Amino acid sequence: MKETFGVNKKGQTVSSFTIKNNNGMTASIIDFGATLTKLIVPDKTGAMRDVVLGYDDVESYENGACYFGTIIGRNANRICGGKVTLDGKTYQMDQNDNDNNLHSGNNGVDKKMWTALSDSDPSQVSFICKSNHLEQGLPGSVTMTVTYKITDDNELIVSYDAVSDMKTIINMTNHSYFNLNGHNSGSVENHLIQIEADYYNPVIDSKAIPTEENADVTGTVFDFRKPKAIGKDINADDIQLKYVGGYDHNYVIKGKSGELRRFATVVSEESGIVLELSSDLTGTQFYSGNFVGDQKGKGGYDYHNRSGFCLEPQYIPNAMNFIPEGSVDSPVFDADEQYHTQTIYKFSTK
Ligand code: GLA
Repeated sequence: MKETFGVNKKGQTVSSFTIKNNNGMTASIIDFGATLTKLIVPDKTGAMRDVVLGYDDVESYENGACYFGTIIGRNANRICGGKVTLDGKTYQMDQNDNDNNLHSGNNGVDKKMWTALSDSDPSQVSFICKSNHLEQGLPGSVTMTVTYKITDDNELIVSYDAVSDMKTIINMTNHSYFNLNGHNSGSVENHLIQIEADYYNPVIDSKAIPTEENADVTGTVFDFRKPKAIGKDINADDIQLKYVGGYDHNYVIKGKSGELRRFATVVSEESGIVLELSSDLTGTQFYSGNFVGDQKGKGGYDYHNRSGFCLEPQYIPNAMNFIPEGSVDSPVFDADEQYHTQTIYKFSTK
């Protein structure tokens, strides 16, 4: 179902597309940023809850700095100094986060209008967007397609396809903030989270540039191999947590890259909602909403730090600098080489 969502500052109409399955689960996505604005799923009593943070108007999405529900591209996460070297040539990206690049900078696809592709299937919608040569500082014109689909198993499947006309970096993700009690229900610190990862990448300092080091989670506050409340250790006296005000780190997902596998499970006892996430990628940023600040969200509700958590599947940060090109774990793509990845968000109750 297509509806008008609003008008952006360029005067363009922003539309919202709602997709659904046969169990009443729905997702709404706007063509500004191909942004997931609502995700409505059943709780343990059968009542429906909207489990993603968002805004009610285009202006808030245009001005927002939190990336609520947006698609990130071409490159997710931080790049030190915003500098990327490909075949000996260095490209300068925006330095929009201290002196570093975050989520592709000011011309990220999160702030662009995407074009919806018509689809007669009420369970899915696709969007297409072009990022021009050097628009973000990176070489090549890249055409990106994202498809959101809901299945009757209460899965939201997000599929990404992209192709460039020159060698470049492609590393996309979705930046939804989840709250399994509902977007308007306060902190997620009580959610139990399990992450299938033996290692994480520490950050250098409070500017949060991830290192290439695979640090063992054993015996640390970063060990989520067994379900643990997000808030259990979040205020511990740990330098890595202090640097970034909580969790904001990449985890190295176990198992074979390129194969879809479950990498995290999150449970809220209060709503009984269980979210299982699967991806074919090697990394996932776990971000505990440390910098949400105080702002008005959907329905006039106030959001604060930790009102939602993010799990953002992606290549390992900096992989372009140390993973050989051509590897399944490399974000470097040749001209005409197909980029394809999928994330599955599966909802159930307990
Ligand atoms: C990412 C980063 C965080 C923060 C958010 C947006 O996930 O890792 O540090 O910048 O985006 O606020």
